[in-house]
Amino acid sequence: MQGTLYIVGVGPGDPDLLTIKALKTLEKCPVWIAPKAHSEGESTALSIVTEHVGVADKDIVTHRFPMKPVQRAEDADETLVKAWNEAAKIVIDHLNKGHDVAFPTLGDPAIYSTGFYVCEALADAGYEGEIKVIPGVSSVGTTAASAKTPLCLGDERLLVLPATFENGEVASLLKTVDAVVFMKVYRVLDKMIEVLEAENLIDQATLVERAGCSDERVWTDIRQAASEENLHYFSTLIVRTKK
Ligand SMILES: C[S@@+](CC[C@H](N)C(=O)[O-])C[C@H]1O[C@@H](n2cnc3c(N)ncnc32)[C@H](O)[C@@H]1O
Repeated sequence: MQGTLYIVGVGPGDPDLLTIKALKTLEKCPVWIAPKAHSEGESTALSIVTEHVGVADKDIVTHRFPMKPVQRAEDADETLVKAWNEAAKIVIDHLNKGHDVAFPTLGDPAIYSTGFYVCEALADAGYEGEIKVIPGVSSVGTTAASAKTPLCLGDERLLVLPATFENGEVASLLKTVDAVVFMKVYRVLDKMIEVLEAENLIDQATLVERAGCSDERVWTDIRQAASEENLHYFSTLIVRTKK
């Protein structure tokens, strides 16, 4: 019998934010394909789960997915497509041997996660077997919790944006909603600050780095964060547009 692929959200970094369902799923899968960004580095998703799930009996393949921007309306970078296709091949080989395969992924799989690119590559390769998605605690909610702010209440509107791709549209988007979550913000924080200052919203912005982790930092003056040389990639900005 063919195995099942589980895309498993493992939360934003604190191992205690791994759900019980994620934990049970990882425990029952003999094979894990763990994503990592750099060939020499470790898999963040894997490092999150190993505190609570034993790996001695697991067949763990760490697979590199280069950090390249993906614009959905355009063809993706070749090296990235290759990485997705190679991962799909590894997954299919194991599933065909009857093994259940887990793909642990940071936060929640539905939000900017490699897991769904691998699902697309599986479909492109003709795979029609079972795929299950185990939701995880997203950095979106975790950042709000650390900032001690709601994201939306009552009739308020919330927008989630990848800050790296917002070229000139941020100012007009900010006028249409009550709160914005800017992800992937760490390389473009200076630009964000310019826009927020121009829109008189700088005092309503909170940046959270490594939300939920023991080394978490929260900035209510995000200009201070911009002067940090070591701002972590895992940083998310929340802007409430109404006082
Ligand atoms: C590729 S996306 C992955 C999002 C993930 N699937 C989720 O649900 O949180 C990476 C972005 O998530 C955010 N992120 C991930 N972990 C975070 C954390 N612990 N604290 C703050 N932001 C985090 C950052 O904005 C980062 O640039």
